[in-house]
Amino acid sequence: MAEPLLEGSPGSVTVRSPAKINLALGVGAPRPDGFHPLATVYQAVGVYDEVTVRRAPRTTLRVAGEGVDVVDVPTDGANLALRAVRGLAEHHGLAEPDTGVEMSVLKCVPVAGGMAGGSTDAAAALLACDRLWGLGTSRADLLRVAAGLGSDVPFCLVGGTALGEGRGEVVTAVEDTGSYSWVVALPGGGLSTPAVYRELDRMRGAQEPSPPQVPGELLDALRGGSTVGVARALSNDLQQAALRLRPELADVLALGRSAGALAALVSGSGPTCLFLAGDAEHADRLATRLRADGLACLVAPAPVPGARVLPPL
Ligand code: C5P
Repeated sequence: MAEPLLEGSPGSVTVRSPAKINLALGVGAPRPDGFHPLATVYQAVGVYDEVTVRRAPRTTLRVAGEGVDVVDVPTDGANLALRAVRGLAEHHGLAEPDTGVEMSVLKCVPVAGGMAGGSTDAAAALLACDRLWGLGTSRADLLRVAAGLGSDVPFCLVGGTALGEGRGEVVTAVEDTGSYSWVVALPGGGLSTPAVYRELDRMRGAQEPSPPQVPGELLDALRGGSTVGVARALSNDLQQAALRLRPELADVLALGRSAGALAALVSGSGPTCLFLAGDAEHADRLATRLRADGLACLVAPAPVPGARVLPPL
């Protein structure tokens, strides 16, 4: 295929892609394929990874962290961003050397933190390679390739606030007129997402959960842009399981509440914890108090757009 080597295609492309949180995460009984049906409300928050790609004879990957530990990020074929490069090439019937890229990933999103750090790198890599190779892949096809890479990858392309169904990969925008200020607390270490889902199944035992549903109060609060309403309606079915695996997270949540957060919850499968503040100033004050107690944290506005190509420097 000659098209991807179009003259005038850029020398390098950088894409910035956000972390996600789940404002509600309803989890059903495992499906025959092992995945759990979800009814979730995703929100993209202003903590970003950046993925840069350049043409190269063969594909290589370099990962660096800014304030996050990247030792546990795989740099071999298991890396989700590398799988995205391969997935997009295969979708177009392309192979190396046409699709060789030198890829560098700059991570600010916590690793194994329940914030879709790997998924957002995959979303960024898809968009970056699509631009680098001059493919012009349709949005629908990009979302399809994204869904094949992981449940959260389509949302990382879409961003904003959105409903996630299926195993999380079926994404529909929801009306959200608000803007929110989150404090994202990083208690250290990671949690394995499959292990947290397994723990939830174990805790439920023979008890069959009802099909997951997004709380109507949450959708109403988002439509009205009510921070207090959102604070009241937050929920996460994985939280109890994450707390069983990391009991000290209960202390982190309690610390945030006592420091004045409007609400506190575990982010996705954890261990990252989220505190909702009334506004940006409140979030800064809250973060300062939590840091004084030895907790690493970030302040993040939301909602923010999904993966976007950055203008060339
Ligand atoms: O889709 P993704 O690869 O991100 O999922 C990672 C793991 O999380 C899956 O292998 C599965 O164990 C668990 N998972 C699940 N149900 C979902 C999403 C993820 O059980 N809806």
